[in-house]
Amino acid sequence: MKGMKLGLILMSIIFLSYSCSEGKKNNKSEIAFDDEIEALISKMSVAEKVGQMTQINIDVISKGEIFNLVKPHQLDSLKLDSAINHYFVGSILNVGGHTYTRAHWEELITSIQTKATTQGNKIAVIYGIDAIHGVNYTVDATLFPQQIGQAATWNPELVKQGASVTAYECRASGIPWNFSPVLDIGRQPLWSRFFETYGEDVYLAKQMTEACINGYQGNDPSNPEKVASCMKHFLGYSTPLSGKDRTPAYIPERQLKEYFLPTFETAIKKNALTVMINSGEINGIPVHANPEILTTLLRDELGFKGLAVTDWEDIIKLYRDHKVARNMREAVKLAIDAGIDMSMTPNDYSFNRALISLVDSGEIKESRLNESCRRILWVKKQLGLLKNPIPNFDYYTKFASKEHKEVALNTALESITLLKNEKKLLPLKANTNILVCGPAANSLTIQNGAWTHTWQGIDPAYNTKNAKTFYEAIKENSTGNVTYSLGSKLDSITNLKETIAKAKNSEVIVICLGEIPCTEIPGNIKDLNLPEAQVQLVKELSKLNKPIVFALSFNRPRIINSIEKDADAILHTYLSGDYGGEALAQLLFGKENPSGKLPFTYPRHTGSFVPYDHKSTEILDINFGHNAFNPQWEFGFGLSYSSFNYTNLEINQSELSKTDTINISVDVSNTSEIAGKEVVQIYITDSVASITPSVKRLRAFRKVHLNANETKTVLFKIPVSELAFVDANNKWKIEEGHFKIQVADNRLSFVVK
Ligand code: BGC
Repeated sequence: MKGMKLGLILMSIIFLSYSCSEGKKNNKSEIAFDDEIEALISKMSVAEKVGQMTQINIDVISKGEIFNLVKPHQLDSLKLDSAINHYFVGSILNVGGHTYTRAHWEELITSIQTKATTQGNKIAVIYGIDAIHGVNYTVDATLFPQQIGQAATWNPELVKQGASVTAYECRASGIPWNFSPVLDIGRQPLWSRFFETYGEDVYLAKQMTEACINGYQGNDPSNPEKVASCMKHFLGYSTPLSGKDRTPAYIPERQLKEYFLPTFETAIKKNALTVMINSGEINGIPVHANPEILTTLLRDELGFKGLAVTDWEDIIKLYRDHKVARNMREAVKLAIDAGIDMSMTPNDYSFNRALISLVDSGEIKESRLNESCRRILWVKKQLGLLKNPIPNFDYYTKFASKEHKEVALNTALESITLLKNEKKLLPLKANTNILVCGPAANSLTIQNGAWTHTWQGIDPAYNTKNAKTFYEAIKENSTGNVTYSLGSKLDSITNLKETIAKAKNSEVIVICLGEIPCTEIPGNIKDLNLPEAQVQLVKELSKLNKPIVFALSFNRPRIINSIEKDADAILHTYLSGDYGGEALAQLLFGKENPSGKLPFTYPRHTGSFVPYDHKSTEILDINFGHNAFNPQWEFGFGLSYSSFNYTNLEINQSELSKTDTINISVDVSNTSEIAGKEVVQIYITDSVASITPSVKRLRAFRKVHLNANETKTVLFKIPVSELAFVDANNKWKIEEGHFKIQVADNRLSFVVK
């Protein structure tokens, strides 16, 4: 009884100090009072609170030098001791160099969490990793197509299934926090991380965002099969003016709201637990130092409750690179005042020293640390880490199972996009004699891209055993004679004579064009053209007058205008992952029917990047020829071995109010003898508006399966409110007037009154 009373008194003291001393506005981003979390915070010293806000790289607690660790990887018990008992670190990330086995993850996570929960402040560490297309840092994990390929499926259900598999295999590696998905919109094709996005369209990306967060977190992230997602990189990271990673972006507020914010808003509504901040600057202000974005927008307006982590060294960058602070101390003050909760410092403890000194001098209040610790501990609690810091590693019998691989294969199958198929060259007969050549033909690294076993994904030493390259899978699926010859490396011609000789003996030549795996600053390029050697390979082989198929494996749309006509068929595989080889082979031989659609506008020229939802002034100019929009292939484009026809486009009323819902129905028929999947895409155009309207915007879509000669009526409900745009005052607005609906070549109009 006595104990209980004392407990109650203590609780109310804690509660009072929480509500008064913090002086916080009672806004929607506030975490509900939690006595377990408050009790932990009340016991923590300033150093412990700062530690909780610190994320270090695994290198800091490993044997060897940072970036030059002892191999095989080993924890350094003295360094771990210092991290836990001296710095009280709250979070650790990454791998030291390359992929680990599950057994090594088990050993690592068990050692870290045992130490963290029995020593220091006895709070579990939250371990985070970039499992961005499957758990790409665990040996044998199921590797999916990269995000751009996932978007090309136009099938949110598959994205959700893939995210569930990834969450499961992440937890199976002892890791509860995934730095994924990338919610940046891919509207700058030069950008090295284009492949990490869901493409250029806001609506499509929003559907994929919702599916992905559902898959990662489910309804209960403490479930041992779920992880915390991390929306990244907030905000406006993907559109650097120069196209180079981490360089300045200039984005007007209305565009920021209409194009770059909605995916994050969607994720927050789906309870995404964490966010990572954009390393770059927008309109001259580094986002890590911008309270308007990190507090006013993220917390006060969007109501985000979870934890905001910096990106790699980004507080250091505020003084070293961005030059908005004179030293680390000023940089830390800027970032903490802006709204950062956790610093991915990540290779030293400079953040800790600076923040402790700022609290000692009174420049930062301890209550500000409490705010961040509360969010961090809340996320840990949501993940079940406060109760179960070490998973039961034996539970995960489905790790890398056939069932999981099936999801990856289906995703690759539905993503690969048929861009050209002259004279119905495809599908090929199984007994066709084929030469498979080109730099991407026999390379799992090019097929997977960056973030595969290593950061840049370039080292074949860590390739997944038994995963098949394009060549290997084509050979396996064929009953004919399939040969291989490189012909060209990524940027230099090699064994061309042998390649031509083998081509002469083949009936069809499959040329697998590729791009070096790369991301972030190492992925910056000066030219979007395909390297000359690959162009030369195509030109030489086209002289043989044999049917040519291109399989493209690019990080971003590399310009192929000069060789497009040399191909009879073209398949874009994006970065299709470990099952991309099998998927390509099944599609080539017609075991499966292509159904991927481009999630971006494929440019024809290096100087003309105009998205599909451009303005009227960017269409073909009748007086002077091409003004701007003349892409190689349009957003949403993708062929099938079936043929589809659309009829009977109807809406329930031709005059609607702003609060109405548009009911659209359309009949889609498979007019062929082959079953296939079609993506019904609804585009709506605002005829006249106070902000120049886009020529069209995707407002709904659905992927439907149609048997041979089958017709389905597909229904859509689109609230008129979803036709809103951000007006001149930066407010969302629906304007009255005429709108047009377009579904394939069917058109209708309606009026909003
Ligand atoms: C990237 C992030 C990534 C982080 C941790 C950064 O360089 O920008 O996307 O999550 O590293 O690996």
